[in-house]
Amino acid sequence: MKYTNKFGMNLSKIGLGTGRFGTVVSEETSFEMLDLFYENGGNVIDTARNYYEWVENGRGKSEQTIGKWMAKRGVRDKVYISTKCGVRNEGKTFYMNLSKENLLEECKQSLEALQTDYIDIYLLHRDEPDRLVEEIMETLQVVQEVGKVKTIGVCNWSADRVKKANIYALEHGLAPFKIVQTWWSIAAYTPNMWNDPTTTWMDMEMYNYLKENNLLGMAYTSQAKGFFQKAIRDGYENVDDFLKHRVATEENLQRLERIREYCEQKKVSPTAVVNGYITDNDVEGLALVSCSKLEQLRDILEHCDVSVDREWIRQFEVR
Ligand SMILES: NC(=O)c1ccc[n+]([C@@H]2O[C@H](COP(=O)([O-])OP(=O)(O)OC[C@H]3O[C@@H](n4cnc5c(N)ncnc54)[C@H](OP(=O)(O)O)[C@@H]3O)[C@@H](O)[C@H]2O)c1
Repeated sequence: MKYTNKFGMNLSKIGLGTGRFGTVVSEETSFEMLDLFYENGGNVIDTARNYYEWVENGRGKSEQTIGKWMAKRGVRDKVYISTKCGVRNEGKTFYMNLSKENLLEECKQSLEALQTDYIDIYLLHRDEPDRLVEEIMETLQVVQEVGKVKTIGVCNWSADRVKKANIYALEHGLAPFKIVQTWWSIAAYTPNMWNDPTTTWMDMEMYNYLKENNLLGMAYTSQAKGFFQKAIRDGYENVDDFLKHRVATEENLQRLERIREYCEQKKVSPTAVVNGYITDNDVEGLALVSCSKLEQLRDILEHCDVSVDREWIRQFEVR
C-alpha cells in the first residue's frame, strides 16, 4: 500500500468507497470487504450521510455499517473516516442545504451512526452556489468545533469557489479546505458517466490549484467503473453496453489501447495502471474505489504497490 502524509494523517492512497454498504451490499459482505481492506494496509474509509437515501431506509446505513464494524474490531483510532454532509435526496435528485442548522444536525447524526466522537475528514457533498462562501466557512468553523472535525474539504465544487472560500478562510483565521473530492480517473471525462449537473470533474484549474497548494485530490470513480480492466481482461466486445455508453468515447478508446500497450510492455495489470494513474500522479492523489465483489478488492490490493511511470501518466492530461 502506498501512503501519503497529509494534514497530520498517514493516509493509504487507496480509499474504500462504501456507498452500498448495509443496503445493496449486506452487512456480512461489507464487513468482509472492510476486513480485507484493513488487513492489507487500507485505512481511508469513504462514506456519506445521504448514501443510498434513494432506497427505502437507506439513509445513514453506510455510516452505521462502518460504525458497527469499527466498534466490533476496535479499530476506530486505526482508520480515517471521510464522511459528507449537506445533501438530501429525493430519488436521485440532490437538494443542497449548507445552512448552519442543517450541517450541525447532520454532523450529530453522522457521529452517532459511526459510533465515534470525532471525524477525520468532513466534506461538503455538493456546492450550494447561491450561498456565500463567507457564510459557509464561518459555519464550518462551528461544525468543526462541535464535531471534533480534523480536516475539511469539498466534493463537486468548482475551483473558483474553492479558491474564494480558502482566501476568505485564510484572511479570517479559519480552517481552509484541504481536500477536494471529484470525478478523476485515467479516463477522460464524459458527461454520460453521471449525467448529473451537480457533479464536477478534475479540470485543469482545479488540478493546478491542488498541485500549487499541495492539497489532496480524492478521486471518485477512479477506476472509471472498471471499464479498462474489463475491456482488457474480458475483451471489449464483452463490456456491457451501459458501461460503454458511460465511458467509451473515441478518446477513451485510444486511451484503452495505450493502457493495453503499457500493461504488455511493463507486465503489469490494468488495475495497477488505472489506480497508479491517481496514486502516482503529480497531484497528490488518493483513489477511492468501490467493488461489487471481494475478488475485485483483492485484485486492487494485490496490485496497489506497483509504480506507474510519471512521464507516461502525463500524456493523459486533464482539461
Ligand atoms: N463525492 C461524490 O459525489 C461521489 C460520487 C461517486 C462516488 N463517490 C465515492 O467514490 C467511491 C468510488 O466510486 P465508484 O464506485 O464510482 O468507483 P469505481 O471504483 O470507479 O467503480 C466501481 C465499479 O468498478 C468495477 N470494479 C471495481 N474494481 C474492479 C476491478 N478490480 N476490476 C474490474 N472492475 C472493477 C465494479 O463494477 P461492477 O460492479 O459493474 O463489476 C465496481 O462496482 C464511492 O463508493 C464513493 O465512496 C463519491
